[in-house]
Amino acid sequence: MPKLCIRDLELKGKRVFLRVDFNVPFRNGQITDDTRIHAALPTIQYALEHGAAAIVLASHFGRPKGKPDPQFSLSPVCEHLETLLGRKVTFASDCIGKPAAQAVKRAQEEGHGIVLLENLRFHEGESANDPQFASELAALADVYVDDAFGVTHRAHASVAAITKFLQPAAAGLELVDELRYLGKALEAPDRPFVVIVGGSKVSDKLGVIENLLHRSDRVLIGGAMAYTFLKARNMPVGRSLVEWDWLEPARSIMRYADGVGIRFELPTDHVVTTKIEAGAPSEVLRIGDTAIDNRIGVDIGPATVKIYGALITDAKTVVWNGPMGVFEIDQFSCGTTGVARAVAAVKGMTIIGGGDSVAAVKKAGVADRITHISVGGGASLDFLGGRRLPGVEALTDKA
Ligand code: 3PG
Repeated sequence: MPKLCIRDLELKGKRVFLRVDFNVPFRNGQITDDTRIHAALPTIQYALEHGAAAIVLASHFGRPKGKPDPQFSLSPVCEHLETLLGRKVTFASDCIGKPAAQAVKRAQEEGHGIVLLENLRFHEGESANDPQFASELAALADVYVDDAFGVTHRAHASVAAITKFLQPAAAGLELVDELRYLGKALEAPDRPFVVIVGGSKVSDKLGVIENLLHRSDRVLIGGAMAYTFLKARNMPVGRSLVEWDWLEPARSIMRYADGVGIRFELPTDHVVTTKIEAGAPSEVLRIGDTAIDNRIGVDIGPATVKIYGALITDAKTVVWNGPMGVFEIDQFSCGTTGVARAVAAVKGMTIIGGGDSVAAVKKAGVADRITHISVGGGASLDFLGGRRLPGVEALTDKA
């Protein structure tokens, strides 16, 4: 845990450098999900209420190649933030140098005090964790607060090197929440502890499965990744996605679970189709049915939803990462929605991570019944997978 939280800092009259994760999904000029912006609001409000002279918001957006690229400008995010906050936010056309310094000064003079810097990744120094770039960011403020859980797994200048130049350095309210909930699931979960893992690839989630397997009581697998496990059990899977190089790791996980008596569940039925598109003909088959022929599995079936629901219902802790099928297409979304409803009905602590699972609980209309929705994609996978988070270490070592 970071040594300091924003609540420990004296903010009155101080300029606060606030690293946020405004890397929001964006399509046709529109923000399609503003969860990450909402997640930063409590920390922004806290700093305002505690007399900060300026709040300098800094974020990355997409993956530009270390130089300005208009399609990755944070300017649309700035407009949206103004609407959410109901106050002006000054946009700085560059995150360092004169444009940034002048924007901070202007925001203070105008009295609203909030600045959003242009995309940090418009400079190579950000991803390179470059000390010179970090020191230029640090020059904009008096204290550092990191509220960007989603990027704590990156050793980037604005989350790591900057703490060498800007002290005190503390965690924001969202970051503290993330570490508290995910940490509780890892270290002292109330039991039964049910882990649900979906999404397309075993290779992306192997670390999480391995790290959580021995801590959990039941692991439920869905999504396309189930087919690598099913293939490892010699089941017919048609043209479903199989990661051939991962059959042996999949076997070894299942052997381990068997050996120590952890329930490791794979779907017993599924929805299969000829094409992954809306309106394509589909039917439900039992797993193992060779009638799958050369079709593709796109969702867990109703029998699996029932079995998984029964295994979820008495859980005291649930961690869910990754959808159970191609939930973006309504006719293939029943499995994910069914699991979302079962998780929402749990009386214990429920944690959902990964952009797709978050979108799925929103689609199912149950997001407000989940204890904690993690805004970190790769970061939550790394944390749950037991990997080090440089962004958290920077706050721990230097505080
Ligand atoms: C995310 O979307 O998971 C974070 O914002 C980190 O983005 P990145 O994977 O581009 O570093």
